[in-house]
Amino acid sequence: MSAPVPQRGHKPDVRLLRQTLGRFVTGVTVVATRDEEGNMVGLTANSFTPVSTHSGLLLWSLANKSRSLLAFTRSADFVVNVLAEDQMAVSRLMSAPVENRFAGLQWEGGEMTGLPIIAGCAAWFECRKVTQYQGGDHQIFIGRVANCAVSDRRPLLYFAGNYAFPAAPASAGVAA
Ligand SMILES: Cc1cc2nc3c(=O)[nH]c(=O)nc-3n(C[C@H](O)[C@H](O)[C@H](O)COP(=O)(O)O)c2cc1C
Repeated sequence: MSAPVPQRGHKPDVRLLRQTLGRFVTGVTVVATRDEEGNMVGLTANSFTPVSTHSGLLLWSLANKSRSLLAFTRSADFVVNVLAEDQMAVSRLMSAPVENRFAGLQWEGGEMTGLPIIAGCAAWFECRKVTQYQGGDHQIFIGRVANCAVSDRRPLLYFAGNYAFPAAPASAGVAA
């Protein structure tokens, strides 16, 4: 691919914007909550990002057209599961048009929220929802971490529309 050509003064086209955003590597998470009937609902999301360590805040965004929007809007809590490098199938399941996605997964309820913590994930955060903003065609959720844990599993990555894997040898581990 040729060197990036800056576009100034006008809106980049959607294809260029997708390619450009695709150079930003993310992890892959499953964000979950419960609906008013007590069913667990959740989806794959790579919009997750920390706001700041000091505040303990984090955010992620959910499409306005999402079937889970009502549940996340009404719930006071959510949980973010950071998927491990061997959990691509979990990411696929949680983004597929499947009813009751958690029925096909091994998980246990978090101590603070009772929300699903997926077996084998790299890390997780139980959050109290602080606020919810409208951001174009998405809702931006901000949560405060109430409880979290990390494993020594390496994370699944997402880049340029594809899954990717950390290159560091397993023996490098994850810094504490
Ligand atoms: C790697 C990956 C990342 C995704 N990130 C998001 C995201 O951040 N926000 C979002 O709303 N959808 C995201 N999606 C799409 C949703 O997972 C997908 O549309 C899902 O079916 C929505 O489910 P729902 O309509 O039941 O809420 C992502 C999908 C994949 C595969």
